Amino acid sequence: MRKKLIAGNWKMNGSLADNELLCKAILAGLAGDDGSQTTAVAVCTPSAYLSQLKNLLTGSKISLGSQDISSHDKGAFTGEISAAMLKEFGVRYAIVGHSERRQYHGETDTLVALKAKAALAAGITPIVCVGESLAEREAGKTEEVVKRQLAAVIHENGHCISEIVLAYEPVWAIGTGKTATPEMAQAVHSVLRAQLHAASPVAAERVQILYGGSMNAANAVSLLACSDIDGGLIGGAALKAADFLSIVAAAK
Ligand code: PGA
Repeated sequence: MRKKLIAGNWKMNGSLADNELLCKAILAGLAGDDGSQTTAVAVCTPSAYLSQLKNLLTGSKISLGSQDISSHDKGAFTGEISAAMLKEFGVRYAIVGHSERRQYHGETDTLVALKAKAALAAGITPIVCVGESLAEREAGKTEEVVKRQLAAVIHENGHCISEIVLAYEPVWAIGTGKTATPEMAQAVHSVLRAQLHAASPVAAERVQILYGGSMNAANAVSLLACSDIDGGLIGGAALKAADFLSIVAAAK
C-alpha cells in the first residue's frame, strides 16, 4: 500500500516569528503520534526560510520542501536556486510546475519536466503539479491538459518516473474555496494512474498522487478515502496548525 503524503505549500507567506510558532505547533500536534508509518508530512516553505526550517525540523517527522527548483546546475541564472543548494538545507521535496509558476512565470511543460529532472538527479523528490483551468474544464479538456502536462515529465524522466510525486491541482479550486468533489478528483487521478501505468507499471504502483485545491479539515476525509488519492498538497489550510493537523489526521 502506498503511504499517504500531506504536504503544506506555504506559498509566499510567513515570517521568522510566524514560522517558528507554526512549526512548533505542528510538531507538538504530531508528538507521540506513530502515524508516520502510514502518513508522511512535509512543509514546502519560501526559500528564504529554508535555513530556519532546517534548524526547526532536523530530527523531526516533518520533511522540508522547496516551492521551486532551478533546471540548471549552477552559473549565471540570477535569482535561481539549484538542487545542490537545496540539498544543503536538507530539502527532501521540491514542488515543480505549480500552476502559479506556470501562470505568472511562464513555465512551460518542458521547463517543468527539466526541473523535475534536476531534482531527481540530486535525490530530491519533485512534487509535479498538473491541473486544468476553469475554461479548460468547461471546454471538456481536463484529461487532455493533465495528460499533456504529465507526458512532458514522463518523456524527460522515463527511466526514473517512479520516483516522482504527482499532484493534481485543478486551477479553479486553488485558493478559491471550491474543491473538486471526491468523484471529480478520483476520475482525474485514475486517468493519471493509467498514464503512469502505460509508462511503467512500477511507477503506477508507487507514485503518490496528491490532490490540491482548497483541501481542508472538512473535505479531507472524503477526498483521501478515494483509491487513487494518496495525500494532499495544502495551501491556505497549511498556515494554521490546527487545520493542517486535522488534514494529517484525516489521512490515517
Ligand atoms: P489551496 O492551495 O489549498 O490554498 O487551494 C493549494 C496549492 O496551491 O497548492
